[in-house]
Amino acid sequence: MSAQLIDGKSIAESLQSEIAAKVEARVAAGHRAPALATLLVGDDPASHVYVRNKRNACVRTGIRSVPLQFGADISQQQLLAEIDRLNADPDIDGILVQLPLPAQIDTTTVIERIRPDKDVDGFHPYNLGRLAQRLPVLRPCTPYGVIEMLKRSGESFYGRRAVVVGASNHVGRPMALELLLAGATATICHRFTRDLADEVARAEIVVAAVGKPGFIRGHWIAPGATVIDIGINRLDNGSLCGDVEFDVARERAAWITPVPGGVGPMTVSMLMQNTLTAAATR
Ligand code: GUN
Repeated sequence: MSAQLIDGKSIAESLQSEIAAKVEARVAAGHRAPALATLLVGDDPASHVYVRNKRNACVRTGIRSVPLQFGADISQQQLLAEIDRLNADPDIDGILVQLPLPAQIDTTTVIERIRPDKDVDGFHPYNLGRLAQRLPVLRPCTPYGVIEMLKRSGESFYGRRAVVVGASNHVGRPMALELLLAGATATICHRFTRDLADEVARAEIVVAAVGKPGFIRGHWIAPGATVIDIGINRLDNGSLCGDVEFDVARERAAWITPVPGGVGPMTVSMLMQNTLTAAATR
């Protein structure tokens, strides 16, 4: 069997068209366009690409993009002052601080400074707590995108065994909370998990969020499983690959996401969705 590819790019494009129609309807009803401020610190090339993709999606959906760029030597106090200014600005709905940040800045302090109702990344403890209590408002974009992509592909979740590999605060943990919310039996595996291969082999839905190329071996995948690869790793030859040993896994899985073109575009669409939600609920 060769798995069907889940075309995240085309699902993300449909979603952006739907968001654009909703934004247009809001504007036609007399509201101003939703506005997203992006804060980019330093000159990490990948961060520049990610922020450019987010700004392009703003253009496609009719969201006003407010790009702010700072040198790598900005102090934490200066960055927090920028966030305070945007928190207080009634014309800004969403604030996104692109990660990673330089070493002199404490990421947790920055995330917790953003007003929870403008936290369109969904990283603030308030928003993660809402998700944990089954009362989500602004949801972490990548896990939210995985669920949306699977729902739109006709995947069912109730009672299904889902295994998330990777327990990061921004991806793995909220991914397991999203799967739980959707009705799956969710397990999180991490660096201390014994018998990772056995855990993965029991899964009907596998979500890889490790950040190591080919870490999830293809022969671990149960026949007929759905495989979601969140990893985006750049190889020495410049090409991108995921966390799953794709060529082997695709011969066993029923559904699998490619890298690139799988989860990545969904993350950007969910950011647009969160910005619209933030504008509509203020
Ligand atoms: N860096 C890599 N992914 C992300 C993301 O989803 N949000 C932010 N703010 N920074 C990131």
